[in-house]
Amino acid sequence: MKYTVKVIASSAYLLMFLLAGQVIVAQDRTVNDGIFTEAQVNAGEVVYDASCKTCHNMRFYRDTLKSWNNQPLIYLWETIMGTMPADNPGSLLLEEYTDVIAYILSENGFPAGDMKLDPDNGMDVIHILSP
Ligand code: HEC
Repeated sequence: MKYTVKVIASSAYLLMFLLAGQVIVAQDRTVNDGIFTEAQVNAGEVVYDASCKTCHNMRFYRDTLKSWNNQPLIYLWETIMGTMPADNPGSLLLEEYTDVIAYILSENGFPAGDMKLDPDNGMDVIHILSP
């Protein structure tokens, strides 16, 4: 009798462990999973044309994404926010930095979707892929 209880308890524990593992897997995404909206792309294009276009072309971002392959997207967001635009770093709103990343991803062939890109919500588990 005691033995049975123990087995049931440890099976339940194992099940919880497995379920917890699946939650982590489910949260892990890539830039190919529709992690920004079309509205963010449109807003990002305006920011890009005004603040980024003069110094970089899309070829540059393609190479950047390649070199950031597999890194969490939040690192790129932090880097851009901390260093860009090079003539006035940190001058944009946090939302504008987020939108411009959505635009850059979209221009490099990654799809828009239902999820709104948000640095405070899961951007650390979204991984960059080489375009
Ligand atoms: C005044 C010129 C200028 C402007 C405007 C500018 N950049 Fe840059 N950017 C640079 C320079 C210079 C570098 C570093 C040298 C390089 O890699 O070419 C750089 C590097 C980068 C990198 C590479 C970072 C890395 O570590 O891999 C990214 C991404 C980037 N810029 C994005 C942006 C975005 C997004 C904007 C608009 C918000 C922007 N830049 C505006 C000049 C500029």
